[in-house]
Amino acid sequence: MINFSVIDRDGTRKEVEVPEDINLNLMEVLKASEYNILATCGGMALCATCRVEVESGLEQLQPAGDQELDMLDMLPDAATESRLACQLRVNQQLEGIVIRISGDLA
Ligand code: FES
Repeated sequence: MINFSVIDRDGTRKEVEVPEDINLNLMEVLKASEYNILATCGGMALCATCRVEVESGLEQLQPAGDQELDMLDMLPDAATESRLACQLRVNQQLEGIVIRISGDLA
């Protein structure tokens, strides 16, 4: 199993556990865990409503690809720890990380 922590917009922190072979991206797992994420573009790195801030463990994640970087560049308040959850595959790289949901709801 892969375990990581999710901090919701209201500050609530929960541990999420997912099977290693789930073959989903982080946005899909967060939505399936009933977090409120619009994911308007369906995971194409085009809407940024799946944005998360990686509060711990950023260095263990795969670096953002060009499409993700282009989208993040367009966000005025994006920080170095900002990532698009739809571009992160759920795998062992996520073990132990802490993310904070920050994508817009409208
Ligand atoms: S779901 Fe739209 S950018 Fe991730």
